[in-house]
Amino acid sequence: MATLMVKKRLSSGEACPKCLQTEALLRRRGLWDAIDEVVWADEDDPSSPGMVLARKFGVAEAPFFVVREGDQEHVVRSALKLIRDHLSLRGAVQDASAGPADGAAAAGLLRGAEPEAIVRWALERFGADCTIAFSGAEDVVLIDMAAATGLPFSVFCLDTGRLHPETYRFIEDVRERYGVAIDVVSPDAAAVAALVREKGLFSFLRDGHGQCCGIRKVEPLGRALVGKRAWMTGQREDQSPATRAEVAVAQDDLRVGTSLLKLNPLARWTSADVWHYIRAHDVPYNPLHEHGFRSIGCAPCTRPVHPGQHEREGRWWWEDATKKECGLHLGGRDD
Ligand code: ADX
Ligand code: SF4
Repeated sequence: MATLMVKKRLSSGEACPKCLQTEALLRRRGLWDAIDEVVWADEDDPSSPGMVLARKFGVAEAPFFVVREGDQEHVVRSALKLIRDHLSLRGAVQDASAGPADGAAAAGLLRGAEPEAIVRWALERFGADCTIAFSGAEDVVLIDMAAATGLPFSVFCLDTGRLHPETYRFIEDVRERYGVAIDVVSPDAAAVAALVREKGLFSFLRDGHGQCCGIRKVEPLGRALVGKRAWMTGQREDQSPATRAEVAVAQDDLRVGTSLLKLNPLARWTSADVWHYIRAHDVPYNPLHEHGFRSIGCAPCTRPVHPGQHEREGRWWWEDATKKECGLHLGGRDD
């Protein structure tokens, strides 16, 4: 496939502003390298190659794109359509049953792709060997996108034993709404009992959350991922400036071996994007969100935030912002 971008050159010799904006958009999304050739349409020269293409395809406005595949040529009038239909996931379909997952290759392939396309790519490639980590609003967005593909997928939830009653109800609502099996994974009972016997039920308030999260979340996560080839989470970059500023869309997860791919399809979405999707698709959400809760984890370690506070301030509020990771998201190749 070859992709040409036709740009307009004004009488002043400058490129037209819309062409410059479009080039900037493609560069921002890391897709500029996918443009194989720039063809100029000179405003004052009807015989310039770009003007010839504009007449051939009946296009009146620049920029536009010509995609050549074999002896076929398609004209594409908008950059977003070009990204959606031709650039994102180039090779994904051919690649769908290919060998081991590779975080770097997947990150390159998925650069600039919309979350729906990332979810579809993952399920075409891994099916039920790809599991969605479900606890919050973002994760149901992923489940909604996955369900819309009609492809098989898996879902798991780590039941720490300390979730809010509303969260258990919400898990059930999601199960019923999508008709999906949710693997609810419990912590090791003996490890919990030993911790509680030794340090009581609220050791995290004194000692920090590491030990309790290790037993109630991280060890069960390892079990939830055994036998899987990929997992998907609802992490976003703007969830925590201190710890998630550089969430990768795709990365290797070294937790249970090198062939596990971790995908964060919503990495570049904002909280507003998530809530826009939830409203537009009537996606179920945890009723605690209607009571000031924004980021929801275990009941004793989660509280509502005031307007203007960052969502992460409602989690482990007695700890430093740089320590507010329970360990689920450590273990990637670049952690
Ligand atoms: S945490 O590490 O601080 O607890 P956070 O609540 O921000 O994580 O959630 C980020 C993502 O981690 C979620 O979108 C979800 O994919 C995964 N996750 C967090 N908690 C759980 C859980 N209890 N069960 C399954 N996945 C979870
Ligand atoms: Fe324990 Fe709190 Fe971590 Fe839940 S969030 S596992 S209660 S420390």
